[in-house]
Amino acid sequence: MVKVITYGTYDVLHYGHIRLLERAKALGDYLIVGITSDDYDKSRGKINNQQSLAERIQNVKNTGLADEIVIEEYEGQKIDDIKRLGIDIFTVGSDWEGKFDYLNEYCKVVYLPRTEGISSTEVRARNRKIRLGIVGKTGYRKKVFNEAKYVNGIEIVGVFSRYNEKASEDDSVFYTGQYEDMLDHVDAVYILSEPKYHQVDVKKALEAGKHVLCESPITLDEKVYSELHRIAAKNHLVLMDAIKTAYSTAFERLVLLAKSGKIGEILSVDATCTSQADSINQDEPVRGSLTTWGPFAMLPVFQLLGTDFSDISIATKMTAEGRDVFTKIDFLYPHSVASIKVASGAKSEGELIVTGTLGYIYVPAPWWKTDYFEIRYEDQEKNKRFFYQLDGEGIRNELVSFVKSIEGRKDLSYISPEVSLKIVSVMDAFNKKKNIRSI
Ligand code: CTP
Repeated sequence: MVKVITYGTYDVLHYGHIRLLERAKALGDYLIVGITSDDYDKSRGKINNQQSLAERIQNVKNTGLADEIVIEEYEGQKIDDIKRLGIDIFTVGSDWEGKFDYLNEYCKVVYLPRTEGISSTEVRARNRKIRLGIVGKTGYRKKVFNEAKYVNGIEIVGVFSRYNEKASEDDSVFYTGQYEDMLDHVDAVYILSEPKYHQVDVKKALEAGKHVLCESPITLDEKVYSELHRIAAKNHLVLMDAIKTAYSTAFERLVLLAKSGKIGEILSVDATCTSQADSINQDEPVRGSLTTWGPFAMLPVFQLLGTDFSDISIATKMTAEGRDVFTKIDFLYPHSVASIKVASGAKSEGELIVTGTLGYIYVPAPWWKTDYFEIRYEDQEKNKRFFYQLDGEGIRNELVSFVKSIEGRKDLSYISPEVSLKIVSVMDAFNKKKNIRSI
């Protein structure tokens, strides 16, 4: 029996794929199809798959051409599969000509002519792109511009800035000093304006029927938050918090591992985020420490311990103008504690530590954009290090979730409504000077 194997992503299965599978099958008696896992695709920079692994597998199964399906999960797996499964022929399309010659050592390698004029990329692009407008003048906007280039299904078409400036990211984009002008040209907005403007920017966009991705906090007022969500729900619009860290694979995995009991019962979460006052953003008025860093620092606390803390105490150092340079918040939960230390105008080690009864998780500075963390135990031999590729500091995956939420009309945000609301409510209390001590 001649065994043939072929690999691919098979996103939005098209006739190019089917022709490849038919010819692969005809090369032998038994066809094995390797389908890339979502994680493996992510790690090789392919983040735009429209379909999940389960859907892609189902589509290949439906062709009736595959006798067996394997999941391709890591670089180098092909050699392993070929040896383990007793493969006689490895085949792929001619777009890979020469790339797999190294497999000749293990089996015969056949490149089949690629079908002209069709690809998954092209099928995905047929769907109309979401036109995105960006609001706000920050250095961060440039990063969003760059990251959006990697995301299928979205294009940046407009920018609104209160600072009357012609930005330099891309000349083909429409710049305006009138927010309403920009709203007329877009389907969705990414709001990066100063937090005090968020609520008016979000509200206008939702009322104009536009989807919103807004830098956290969505508003500084708890009551307004519920109103904005009501408008979004009524108009069937997506309203998502933007905290890029939530979308970094390392952070996401860290949360899952901690919750699965790897370090025992979680007793404490301690997060520090600091910067010098002017290093975040040179164009706008300098932001306070909690506005700059609060949502980042509260994210692991609320994702790991929930939002039902029983007590909160805040110590802060304010400038004469009323800007907080340094703020420390302690949260007391029934069975655990947490503390966040944020500064915009002071420096400390920007690390994240999660203390558990069996061990602890350590994320080195700057933990909010990390590709790495460690689980450490008293017996150091049990320590484990985890690395995950970080693309675009998480912004890229955040945009993918936003696009998928809009396309599927369902909330695929990595930040739950409870966490999002609690961040707003802490900021609200801080601004109203509840439970605050000055240092
Ligand atoms: N293939 C082909 N003809 C096409 C497209 C793909 O023969 N027009 C083959 C590829 O060479 C590969 C297999 O089908 O052997 C799976 O390809 P995959 O990368 O999943 O599909 P693409 O359409 O090339 O995807 P993308 O546009 O995302 O690169």
